[in-house]
Amino acid sequence: MKKCFYLTTAIDYVNGQPHLGHAYEKVVSDVIARFRRSLGQEVFFLTGLDEHGQKVQLAALAEGKTPQDYCDLLAGDWQRFAGELDLSHQDFVRTSQLRHRAVVQAILTKLQNEGHFYRAEYRGFYSTRQETFLTEKDRLPDGTFDAIYGDVTELVEDNYYFNLRDHQKWLIEYIENNPDFIAPNYRRNEVLGFLKNNELENLCITRPISRLGWGIPLPFNPGYVTYVWFDALVNYISVPASYGDPSVMAALPGLKLDEPTTNQSLSLWPADLHIIGKDILKFHAVYWPIMLKAIGLPLPKQILVHGWWQKDGEKISKSTGNIIDPVAVIKEWGLDAFRYYVTRELGIGPDGNWTDAGFASRYTSELANGIGNLLNRSLVMLRSYRQKIIPARHDELASETERTVTKVRQQLLEPDLQGALLTISGLINHANKYIDQTAPFKLAKDPTQSQRLDEVLYNLMEVCRILGVLLWPFLPSTADKIFKQLGMVNAPDDFNLATWGGISQGHVTNDPAPLFPRRDTVPTKT
Ligand code: ME8
Ligand code: MG
Repeated sequence: MKKCFYLTTAIDYVNGQPHLGHAYEKVVSDVIARFRRSLGQEVFFLTGLDEHGQKVQLAALAEGKTPQDYCDLLAGDWQRFAGELDLSHQDFVRTSQLRHRAVVQAILTKLQNEGHFYRAEYRGFYSTRQETFLTEKDRLPDGTFDAIYGDVTELVEDNYYFNLRDHQKWLIEYIENNPDFIAPNYRRNEVLGFLKNNELENLCITRPISRLGWGIPLPFNPGYVTYVWFDALVNYISVPASYGDPSVMAALPGLKLDEPTTNQSLSLWPADLHIIGKDILKFHAVYWPIMLKAIGLPLPKQILVHGWWQKDGEKISKSTGNIIDPVAVIKEWGLDAFRYYVTRELGIGPDGNWTDAGFASRYTSELANGIGNLLNRSLVMLRSYRQKIIPARHDELASETERTVTKVRQQLLEPDLQGALLTISGLINHANKYIDQTAPFKLAKDPTQSQRLDEVLYNLMEVCRILGVLLWPFLPSTADKIFKQLGMVNAPDDFNLATWGGISQGHVTNDPAPLFPRRDTVPTKT
């Protein structure tokens, strides 16, 4: 069984509606998934929802619903949203699914039997909003807690703890010996700094059922449910288990799955890429590796950490109304314009800043005047001067194009999505300048220049075809339109098609239509 390239997104909290940050992470992941597939790799792209925990229980209660009904209702919205982003995911996990619960419980049973947990009384402070315990260290100088924690209550309770301290040493060594494990490098340094300068607190992995009912019951004590993060992280292996993944199945011999997701087994674990935001780095780079080690599974190959979006230089926040509704933007500008802006504007790592003016300006200068104009001008000229028929092959732009293809491939493998788009833009600009320099509209007026006109037109059409292939992971429907207008019968979803000379003499193209219609009005700011 061949192992798939397995990549995951964070699973989003189901309470509330999807926002720009969620959309960004999912689009980035989708571009990588599509690119890998276009290389011919078998790809498994997983996304989904984090449904348990106090926040969801409270939100359901406020609406007079059971947590399950509440989640079922919202899950529909989130799945539709994945469709609106045109994600090419293979599965959509929900942590309330039985297949997930079975794996979480098998892990808890195994780790309990092997002595990784102990019971202790906890006295201290608890933040419902962050679902986390706080200590004296977390207090501000004036004795209060940071506003990010919301209401903090004092409590005393008996819980189960996961012994993390014993794992600190090997984890530091592992991260030091595997420089690609956490990317970008400054995030890796952050984790190393944290691990070297702090003694790990053992992790409380339960909540008494009296305080929280909405969770996965502890298999060895019905008075408790599982802490939401211990539950949520397991999604990355519970889904593989549901496909009969050999390494997960071997690590959990006690696991019984009622209904396997398919008859066909898949080899997924270890994940090649976990894509997450910077705020959940500690959970993925500290707790998750330790959980995996205790379970007896290899670690994921890479945790790729993206930054946070702001709007107009301020935190995106529902309470202040400073939000971007991705669905509204997509409705107004089209999905590909949205996918373009978020991947072009923000590289994977730093924080980004959304401005409506920046969006409109990239739309006009890079999409409408860039690829849109190039394809349109080229097809219009081919129609006017050559009855839409491709002339004989000519290689004037071949080496420039091949250099671009090699570089884009390498950048997408890294993955540097923003860099790849910049490289692609370079070729678009080069080809648009080539039109200005060769002036086919002048050549067309001079019968002695007929062969030169053929050459120029061939180069333009072939560059457009290859741009369709390069753009496909980012802008799948635009790439399809490019191929349709070029009259190609195949799809632009195969990176090998980005080889010079693919469009052949005598091939007949279709009529041009604007890819990104120019817009006179800038949308009003709301
Ligand atoms: O943290 N900009 O869920 P979540 C960019 N359920 N990314 C953002 C963002 C912003 N403004 N706001 C959120 C959770 N994100 C857990 C994950 S994984 C086993 C469990 C990102 O809905 C955030 O960094 O709060 C995270 O990667 C993802 O959206 C889901 O956030
Ligand atoms: Mg969050």
